[in-house]
Amino acid sequence: MDQDSLATLDRYLTEQYVNVEGWCWEYNWQPIQFLAQRQSELSQHIGPVAEIGVFHGKFFIGLNLLKAKSRFTHTVIDVFDMQQFSMSGEGKRIRVPKNISDQQLDKFKFNAVSAGIDVDALCIIKSDSTNLLSREIEAAINNYSKFSFFSVDGCHEFTHAYSDLNLAMEMTDHNGIIFMDDYLHARWPGVHEAVAKMMFCGAPRFVPLYYVHNKLAMCHVNLHNDYLEGLFRFLTERHPATTVRRVTRYGWPTLTIEPKSGSPVLAL
Ligand SMILES: C[S@@+](CC[C@H](N)C(=O)[O-])C[C@H]1O[C@@H](n2cnc3c(N)ncnc32)[C@H](O)[C@@H]1O
Repeated sequence: MDQDSLATLDRYLTEQYVNVEGWCWEYNWQPIQFLAQRQSELSQHIGPVAEIGVFHGKFFIGLNLLKAKSRFTHTVIDVFDMQQFSMSGEGKRIRVPKNISDQQLDKFKFNAVSAGIDVDALCIIKSDSTNLLSREIEAAINNYSKFSFFSVDGCHEFTHAYSDLNLAMEMTDHNGIIFMDDYLHARWPGVHEAVAKMMFCGAPRFVPLYYVHNKLAMCHVNLHNDYLEGLFRFLTERHPATTVRRVTRYGWPTLTIEPKSGSPVLAL
């Protein structure tokens, strides 16, 4: 990863992040800095990024800035004002309790433009993600390439999370990372159940790599050991205040990462 992208991410985190409404603890960026760096060492191809459930862009904007030099199209999928598809519990109440309105897309665009992103170059798909097949998403994107980062943060019911994880696995590059949001959130067991079904009932190509504050990151089996050991070294050397434990998940060695509040977010 080039220093420009890291500097842009740092600027976003220090100057804008607090004002972007959303759900993403800033320390999620500690391991992502390493992953972006390692991806750029593994390949000169800069894959674009995607998110299902972008809301106002808090997480997506940071991912996008790290891959700003990609010549492929970054993509977001969200129901935006069609909140009847954002189900919770019995399927009657909306999942996000605050400020969901038809202003959502405008706020996302405003935040993205403020971060220096060309929103006209994005592919913005307004849809219930469970209505989409990967080939339909691909057809909607001008200049498609598989994604280097794919965040799954739409509806957290089991059916949706499982369907979204399937889409992400089909559309993420073999060097890429899939993030499953709210993996251990007590209100949204569907995300955990979706990952568990995927891991116990099949032999998926993407397997758990690490967990940090609600997000489970998954990578391709071929790169699992490379990413795991590199990330362990990076965190212990560059973030000594962060606790890093080796934890087995579904038979795979993974990391549970516990950053210390107040310590640096990025290693600059
Ligand atoms: C918790 S918010 C996402 C937070 C965001 N990733 C961030 O960084 O702050 C969940 C988002 O999922 C969207 N959503 C809910 N159900 C969906 C569905 N079935 N398909 C697509 N998006 C959905 C909501 O509109 C909302 O924007």
